[in-house]
Amino acid sequence: MGAPDLLNPERRMLRAMQLSEADRSWDLESLLAACEWTDQAVAVGAGHGLQNHGLVDVDEEVLREISLDDAGEDAHQNGLLEHRIWSWMNSLDEGASPSMKDLQEAFERHEAGPGVGLLKQLGVSLEGGLLVASNPDEITNIITQRTEFLASLPALADTLDPTMLNHFSARKNLVKAVERTVRHWTLTPEGQAVSSDELQETVVITDLTPELLQGDTWKTAEFRAFDVSLEAATPRTGRSHPMQALIERIRAIFLEMGFSELVDDYVQSAGWNMDALFIPQDHPAREMQDTFYLDQPSTIELDEGVMQAWKAIHEHGGETGSTGWGGSYSTDVSKRPLLRTHTTVNTIQYLAEHPTEACRVFSVDRVFRKEAIDRTHLPEFHQIEGIIMEEGANLQMLVTTLKTFYAKMGYPEVRVRPAYFPYTEPSLEIEVKWRGKWLELGGAGIFRPEVTEPLGITSPVLAWGMGLERLAMLVLGLDDIRQLYISDLEWLRNQPIL
Ligand code: PHE
Repeated sequence: MGAPDLLNPERRMLRAMQLSEADRSWDLESLLAACEWTDQAVAVGAGHGLQNHGLVDVDEEVLREISLDDAGEDAHQNGLLEHRIWSWMNSLDEGASPSMKDLQEAFERHEAGPGVGLLKQLGVSLEGGLLVASNPDEITNIITQRTEFLASLPALADTLDPTMLNHFSARKNLVKAVERTVRHWTLTPEGQAVSSDELQETVVITDLTPELLQGDTWKTAEFRAFDVSLEAATPRTGRSHPMQALIERIRAIFLEMGFSELVDDYVQSAGWNMDALFIPQDHPAREMQDTFYLDQPSTIELDEGVMQAWKAIHEHGGETGSTGWGGSYSTDVSKRPLLRTHTTVNTIQYLAEHPTEACRVFSVDRVFRKEAIDRTHLPEFHQIEGIIMEEGANLQMLVTTLKTFYAKMGYPEVRVRPAYFPYTEPSLEIEVKWRGKWLELGGAGIFRPEVTEPLGITSPVLAWGMGLERLAMLVLGLDDIRQLYISDLEWLRNQPIL
């Protein structure tokens, strides 16, 4: 009988099986040894191929192995809860029955409650608030059996005492079951009948190389057809975290649009973070509930002239024609150190240092706010910040720039809506359309004279600050922002390359 389509590993496996008794049942180890293979997948694959040709029979047995789960490991090390409570009861003075209260003092709350339940099942009863055991020997005995059971793991399920196994399976995280398939292969009469001539391994060419084509051997060789439908292992290689990859992409887009990147410290003064931006000193967002103030350094020194300019602006509008916020401005408030609540603190300082040179600057950096952590909030997150200062810059240009940015990110539908920030006029909210819904991604506007005038800035400044994590949620399709910062390797591996 011919064996036309056999692959080399199938030929080798069949040859090895034919050399032994006809009815021998082969397990994986003996096959690996007989074929001189180390890779189990090769043996299983060859066996599968031979089975498809009707040359071997495969017998598959699924074994359930029971092993210790997390709580089980702990119980194995430190004793089962009932064991520890029982030993404690027996260590008390001769004849003394402990009370529930004693138990609650000796054990943590999360143990005392379930512990009493376990003891009751073993026959301990509560009499007038005291824990009383009428069958101490039996209790000791059962606890010993349970302890021995755990010590005997891992073991195959059908070698274990079913009552014990049921008991432990019903308790949380003590034991777990893993199924394993064990295969045995035997030759069929057809497999036995294949002539050994057919089982010579041939030279199979899988790769065409220039060297090969220079010789003659390829003329008589067999070529291996590719089966592109076969499952292959996914190569696991090192790669950037999706957040880092996203930041790189944003950088590339702004650089391409002619911006330069600004990187600056996140420890800042309230003066630059807020006063420079005409945020009133009694603004609620300045409170401890929203802003992380620092004890160290205790103050940040600021230029006296700049503070005097802010004072004039805040109290009566300075030279701008604005009426300011009124009240009295305090330099001590300005000098308070904090963790920046937005990256606008850095662009405004850049402008203060270069008040008359036209510029396009961006940053992607970390900011801090006292937010309760939930599905859409983190106390530490990133903003995509930017400014354009040049003569003639206007709202149209601001909107176009933001639309261009989001279009390059893959979100062509962008709209703006009126908003309010103390430091811009007009102020905008930027929204992009995602799966049919408009999502708010950030704020923007043109800096007010109250911001630009004290710093000597004469051209209009377009500015924006947008959420990076929000955008990441869209790009990665997440509905929980926390997923970005959990080091869940499986999730990380399966993220798209951005
Ligand atoms: N700083 C604002 C925020 O944190 C965003 C913003 C930046 C708005 C620049 C207008 C201009 O939300």
